[in-house]
Amino acid sequence: MALAGKRVLLIVSGGIAAYKVLELIRRLRERGASVRAVLTKGGAQFVTPLSLSALSEDKVYTDLFSLTDESEMGHIQLSRDADLVVVAPATADILARMAAGMADDLATTVLLATDKPVLAAPAMNVRMWEHPATQDNLDRLRRRGVRMVGPNAGPMACNEYGFGRMAEPEEILAAISRHFGRPAGPLTGRRALVTSGPTHEPIDPVRYIANHSSGKQGHAIAAALAALGAETVLVTGPTDEADPLDVHTVAVTTAVEMMEACRAALPVDIAVCAAAVADWRVASRADEKIKKGDGGTPTLTLVENPDILASLSAGPGRPALVVGFAAETEQVVAHARAKRERKGCDWILANDVSPETGTFGGDANRVHLIRADGHEAWPEMSKAEVGQRLASAIARSFQGAGDGAA
Ligand code: CTP
Repeated sequence: MALAGKRVLLIVSGGIAAYKVLELIRRLRERGASVRAVLTKGGAQFVTPLSLSALSEDKVYTDLFSLTDESEMGHIQLSRDADLVVVAPATADILARMAAGMADDLATTVLLATDKPVLAAPAMNVRMWEHPATQDNLDRLRRRGVRMVGPNAGPMACNEYGFGRMAEPEEILAAISRHFGRPAGPLTGRRALVTSGPTHEPIDPVRYIANHSSGKQGHAIAAALAALGAETVLVTGPTDEADPLDVHTVAVTTAVEMMEACRAALPVDIAVCAAAVADWRVASRADEKIKKGDGGTPTLTLVENPDILASLSAGPGRPALVVGFAAETEQVVAHARAKRERKGCDWILANDVSPETGTFGGDANRVHLIRADGHEAWPEMSKAEVGQRLASAIARSFQGAGDGAA
């Protein structure tokens, strides 16, 4: 884990988004990082020192930093006793004070004294964000090496809409994780491509053809490959799943877009096609909404979509190991064996997606791993565990095969 053992000094300034840092602390701690918080006077209007200290399991430093504290932990030491300083939320005010090099409270004093990298998650009203003063301050800070995560666009607490919403805790976590680099593991130095989720094939501007895939399995595989050190690209159709940590995620909508994004990710050593790609798309998508009065019931003419798995397996630039999925509702292993040969991939994970199994959208999966030389039936496990077991099998195949695999 890239975050295990890392020390984060979190400066919480006064914005409505301050409540979100509680979730950020929880997630950092789950991943083995330690968090020490500095709370500004403004920040204390939104979160209490008690909630920060309960989650960080550490003392929280505020402007009431006393002489006793100072003798136990001087502010210079506080500023240096971390691997990364994170300012979240970073209000327009604290960004301005950082840009000006002020040291008029504990937070800015620590920021001026630190010799550690600083990551800021700006959060403010859209007009304040757009103001040339704020943009100048951001430019100055960026030139000095301060990195920014967010803000995002969206509705704001002040009833306006636009840029200024603080990045979500998982986005800040991903930025922190990227800062510390990918974890090292048996797949370090390998590149992996994973497809995930359904595709949406538009009929007209408001309707589309889709399927029940949730993306949970594909996302779990991408996360597991990255956790073993692979440089991982995840090409995903529309899902509600969060972008996995340490993974470069590319969001697409249609099968044709998914195919293009996969080609753009090549060359890779490993390709895992877990997406439930729509087999067909509508031959000519209507530019305007099809109306009921437009001459009776419409007839949709479908054309076949490109087969991403078959195309990756055929080359050029074929990955050393190509893994497909077979979603079947009967004769699971027999159909999957035939599919492996037909699509030209090395391994197939076959699963029963009959409605009674609850596989589509559920958290558990029961799969068979089919290779050229036989098949293994895996017991029912969570999709995260299937991802980890597959990633380990992939790592073993590379260890066993030197440069190649399968
Ligand atoms: N797949 C793909 N591109 C497509 C269709 C499928 O990459 N256009 C991949 C899926 O990601 C999966 C595998 O092919 O890894 C098998 O998908 P599945 O839906 O089970 O098979 P189909 O190709 O639809 O075959 P069939 O209709 O015979 O079940």
